[in-house]
This record gives sequence, C-alpha cells and structure tokens, in this order.
Amino acid sequence: MEEKSARYLVTSALPYANGPLHVGQIVGAYLPADVYVRYLRARGEDVVYVCGTDEHGVPITLTAEREGKSPREVVDYWWAHMKETFERFGISFDNFSRTSTELHAGNTQLFYERLKSGGYISEAESQQMYSPTEGRFLPDRYVEGTCPVCGYKEARGDQCDNCGSWYEAYELIDPHSKITGGPVEVRETTHLYLDLPKFSERLGEYVSGQDHWRTSVKNFILGVIDAGLEKRPITRDINWGVPIPEPGFDEKRFYVWFDACIGYVSSTMEWAERIGEPDRWREYWQEPDTRLIHFIGKDNTVFHAVVWPAQLMGVGEGGEEPYVLPYDIPANEFMNLEVVLYGERHPMQMSTSRNLAVWLHEALDRFPADPLRFYLASALPETGDTVFSWRDFQGRVNNDLIGTLGNYVNRVLSFAERYFGGELPQPQEPSEEASEVFADFKELERRYEEKMLSIRPREALGELLAMGRRANRFFDGQAPWKSRKEDPDQARASLYACSVLLGSIAYHAAPYVPEAVERLRGFFDGPVARISDLEKLPEAYRVSGAKPLFVRVEEAEVEAAEERLASAAKS
Ligand code: MF3
Ligand code: ZN
Repeated sequence: MEEKSARYLVTSALPYANGPLHVGQIVGAYLPADVYVRYLRARGEDVVYVCGTDEHGVPITLTAEREGKSPREVVDYWWAHMKETFERFGISFDNFSRTSTELHAGNTQLFYERLKSGGYISEAESQQMYSPTEGRFLPDRYVEGTCPVCGYKEARGDQCDNCGSWYEAYELIDPHSKITGGPVEVRETTHLYLDLPKFSERLGEYVSGQDHWRTSVKNFILGVIDAGLEKRPITRDINWGVPIPEPGFDEKRFYVWFDACIGYVSSTMEWAERIGEPDRWREYWQEPDTRLIHFIGKDNTVFHAVVWPAQLMGVGEGGEEPYVLPYDIPANEFMNLEVVLYGERHPMQMSTSRNLAVWLHEALDRFPADPLRFYLASALPETGDTVFSWRDFQGRVNNDLIGTLGNYVNRVLSFAERYFGGELPQPQEPSEEASEVFADFKELERRYEEKMLSIRPREALGELLAMGRRANRFFDGQAPWKSRKEDPDQARASLYACSVLLGSIAYHAAPYVPEAVERLRGFFDGPVARISDLEKLPEAYRVSGAKPLFVRVEEAEVEAAEERLASAAKS
C-alpha cells in the first residue's frame, strides 16, 4: 500500500480555448484526474485540483483568423463554453482559470527573469519559416509538412501528432503554409532560447528515479534525454501571447509552451486568492512533501516531463524556495471512434476538422453525465489506444451500470421498503454468509484502492463491478423473497448485510457516478463507506422513497448517435 502523502496538487492539461471539448480529450486528461481526485478527497486527503484554458499561441490565432474574429473573442467564448461543459460533466476542479490573465503574464515574466538570471536564457539568430505571399513569419502550426521522423504527411510545424516527435519547422519535409497551402521559405529572425542541455544531467537523474511512472512514459522520456537535448526557442514572431520583457522584442511573444504549464501555478494562486489565503499556493508548489500530479494526453509528454521540470528546476534556484517537481505524469493514449458504415463497424481516428468526433456538450444534451462518465471510465486509454463506440456505451450502461450495480441497489432498497417499512436494525450477529461476503468485500476494496492509487481508474472500475457481482450473488443466495415469509427476522438480517455492501458499493462508485450517489444519499440513510473503515456496524439502515438511479439507453438513441457519426464520416 502507498504511504500517505502530506498533500496532493492534481492538474489536468489546460485545453486550448479554440473549440468544443471532445471525448478523446476527456479520457486523456480530465475524467481520470477527476475520478482520482474524488477518491482522494473521500479518503480524507488534502488535495487541490486545478485547470484552466490555454489561451495563447498559434492554435488560438489560427482559429481567430479562420473565423474572422479576434483572439480575445475566441478565447472568451471558449473559456466560458468549456467551463460550463466541465461543470455539466461533473469535473470537480477547485479552480478553473485561463492563461490570458495579468496574474499569469506576471508569473510567466517572473519565470523568464529567474531563468535568465540563472544563466539559462540566450539570444540567437535562427531560421524561421516565412511566407513570401502572406508577408509574415509562420510559426508552429501555421506550417505543415511531412514528419522528419516517422513520415506522417500532416505533421505540424512544431510537433508530430502521429509519433510525438518535437522538432523545428525547417526540419519538416515539403513544408507549406497551412493557410494558403503555398510555399514557405527560410528567413533569419532573432529569438530567445531556453538552455535545456544545462538540465540534461539533472533531468536524467530525476526521471530515472521515478519508479512509479508508467513505463511507457518513463522510457519515452529517457529516450528523449539520451538522444541529447537542444536549446529551444521560447519566443515567436506572433502578436498574441505574453509580452517579452526585453528591448527589441515588442513584435514577438513567448511561445505558448513556455507559459502554458506556468498556468498550473497561476491557477493555484487564483484558488488561494479566492479562498482568502493568498499564500496557500506555496504549500502546494514549494513544500517538498507535496505530490504534484499532471494528467495529460500523450502528445503533451515531452513538455511536461522534460521542458516543464527544467523550468521548475531553473526557477527554484537563486534564492527562491525551490519548486516541487512532478511526482507523476500519467499520460494517456488515444481514443479512436467506431463509425458504422453500411452495417460495418470501422475504428477511425477522430478528426475535429471533419466534425468526426463525439463532442462532449452534445453528448450531454442527450444523456446525463453519469452514464457517460461510467462508459468513458471503462474505456480509458491507460495502457493502449481504445475505441469509443455508441454500441459499447449502450452495453456498458445497460449491462454493467444498470444490470449489475443499479439493479442491486434497487433490489435491496425496494425490498427493504416494501416488506420492512424501510427499517433495518442491526441483527445480533452477522451470519456466516454475511461475514464471508464482508471479508470478500474487504479484499475487493483493497484491490480497488491499490489500482486507484496507482492511477489506473479503469482497472479500479473492474473491482467495483466485481463488488456488484459479489453482492448480487449474496442477495440471490439469501433469497429474502423466500425467507421473508418463513423467517422475517432472517430476511431483515440479510437486507441489513446487503445494505452494508450497498454502502461500500456507493462509496466506490461515487468517483465515477457522483450525481447518482448524491441522489442515493437522499433515500438511503446509512454510512456510504468502505467496510474496511467501519469501526463498528451501524445500529440501523433506513430507506425511504427510493427510486431507480439510472435510465436505460434505448436502441433508437444509439442508432441516432451512430447515424450522426456516419454522416460526418461520409462527408
Ligand atoms: N493546450 C495543450 C493541448 O491542448 C495542453 C497544454 S497543457 C499545459 O495540447 F498545461 F501545459 F497547459
Ligand atoms: Zn512523426
């Protein structure tokens, strides 16, 4: 079992404020973090969970140009949209900030100044892609071409979505302007650079020591460090972003990946300010016994596991109290989409530009958050890519969430109300079968916790379902529908034991389906707790006004949802 940590600071990647959220993002950085955080809170841990929107850089200016809007209009709209969508989905951030605030600009400039005084910043001429027809430099995603590492054809100027490599745009094969498709040429420009090689050794030691990281993440990063780090430009020829406090840089801004992760610090400061303890953020960032955990999609790994720790190492030098380094960086794989075309099922890559995606706000217009959370949690790409399928959604919800868990709850509660007036006093002594099922539950609780604390919420969900099956088996074996006539006391005792199990199931289900468990508490009066934590069993359970927690997913709803994807795929 993991030892207790003093406090946790958990973050989810700051999404670009340039479009609606889709389920691929949700399973990467948000749902697993939220489930984990909810479990930590239930265990009484000190945890702060922050996020916000990433509002700078080319992803924003490209969207603005395409839509004929200002970057400000774009980020204001999508910040509000995302905040609302996360709330509807039950993501329980302690603070949801944004990177276009003054506080954040100040923090970014402070990070820069500290890195500079530590000797980690240099200035150099470099080659940059320039579009002669558009008359301007084309940073990052304004350029597309073929990945120099894997040969992927639609690689972006700063990073390949296919293999995750990180390079300079002039390394692309056949680079061209994303806007016009026209040719680009290389021109000289001046930029500021972060001296990553100076951190190589420390980074290597730091990453090698992280035995609890997912091996895929650790090995990937060790490979990047071993291959040799280079100085990286942290400024861009762009007019939207954090201003650079250097003469001669008025026309440039910080590169979005220089300021993005600092957004986690800014969001924590905003949280501390809001709760009226403006210095509290320091506890989470500067007390060495904090566990800082960044949930991300795997395309963000280099930035969080190499560049960001280097920034944190550099900024902590020179007098300031050192910052903690990430304790863990659970990076998730990708989720593909199942599209049904002419009766056949095809897994396809999501494509936001082709509208080939499941948008979270639209899914929430048709289904409540809980069943969506439950299904997505069962398909988290923790160890490999997974596929989103509306058919599987229906199966998981109707068979597992309702068939296994919901039905158990209904059977116990309606039986208790119908035949015992909802009053279940504690029997003299648990029966042999009850003692057995409690022991089995304690083992399942232990396994669930082990998986959850090692940040595998999809696997922990498997243990929750095992609890549901075990509880149903107990109910069936007790057959209270028989014993209530022959031996009502025994039937009542069985239902009491069933309620103990129900309290445990609810406790372990709550991180996944929080809203349903909240409703359950309205008609189930008894501890929602791990059996392992109960010092003694309660004197009674009381039930009144129980209602089913979930609604089945109908065939017609699945077909309509599949149809929407199919038409996007055909267009
Ligand atoms: N905006 C980035 C993306 O969507 C993620 C940034 S994570 C951050 O890929 F923390 F660094 F902001
Ligand atoms: Zn590639």
